[in-house]
Amino acid sequence: MSRLQSYRELQSSVPGLEEMYEAIGFSLEQQCTDQSNLLIVGGGGGREIELLARTGFHLNVTVVDPSNANLAEARHIADGSSLEGRIEFIEGSVGNLAKDRKFDVISVLMVLHMIQDRSIERDLLTEIRSRMSSSAKIILADLCFDEQASIDALISEYRRNAEQLGTSTSLMSLEAQFASGCSMRNLGRLKAILSEAGLCISRTISTAHWYRCYVVEPAT
Ligand SMILES: C[S@@+](CC[C@H](N)C(=O)[O-])C[C@H]1O[C@@H](n2cnc3c(N)ncnc32)[C@H](O)[C@@H]1O
Repeated sequence: MSRLQSYRELQSSVPGLEEMYEAIGFSLEQQCTDQSNLLIVGGGGGREIELLARTGFHLNVTVVDPSNANLAEARHIADGSSLEGRIEFIEGSVGNLAKDRKFDVISVLMVLHMIQDRSIERDLLTEIRSRMSSSAKIILADLCFDEQASIDALISEYRRNAEQLGTSTSLMSLEAQFASGCSMRNLGRLKAILSEAGLCISRTISTAHWYRCYVVEPAT
């Protein structure tokens, strides 16, 4: 099974996550116009490109991701789509973009929770903040528990659901272990780190078990 296939199977094992990506697609469609400059942070895998290609927009898209293998998968998805030839792929992160480049819409989907070090996470958000145009918005999805969540109960609910769906035991354990390792990630922590980077949540787009998706804007 390819990395992309495993990732898709994992996604479909989490209740509501497919629907969250659908909601993100609608939200991207709402935020973007043909003239928008869109930055996809951690766009390796190509999920965002898939969602955008459906909109029919002829956007200018930049994808940054430090993983060459993941970028190759995103390139593969772009080939033959309505966005073919309109996407700049950069192996690296936001810090590799020129300081004066500005973007109107920025997606950061399932990236922050991959970063272990809080200061690296904050620095990434600060780099993103400095590349936002005056009316820019961020669409941010991440693993983020509710403050009072019983993580053990959520994990056993997840396992039950994944078993019913026939998810492989190895993938199910991977997701359960990952969630358990993210137990410190909650809304209070996310708000604090966003605030340190000069950002704030303006609304919630969607929730899916332990994942949340928000619109984020510059703090006033
Ligand atoms: C879980 S995948 C999510 C892929 C895609 N955004 C999605 O939602 O399907 C996380 C991606 O973030 C990338 N990533 C990790 N650290 C990053 C960073 N500092 N800047 C940009 N991308 C990063 C990884 O290489 C990986 O491709």
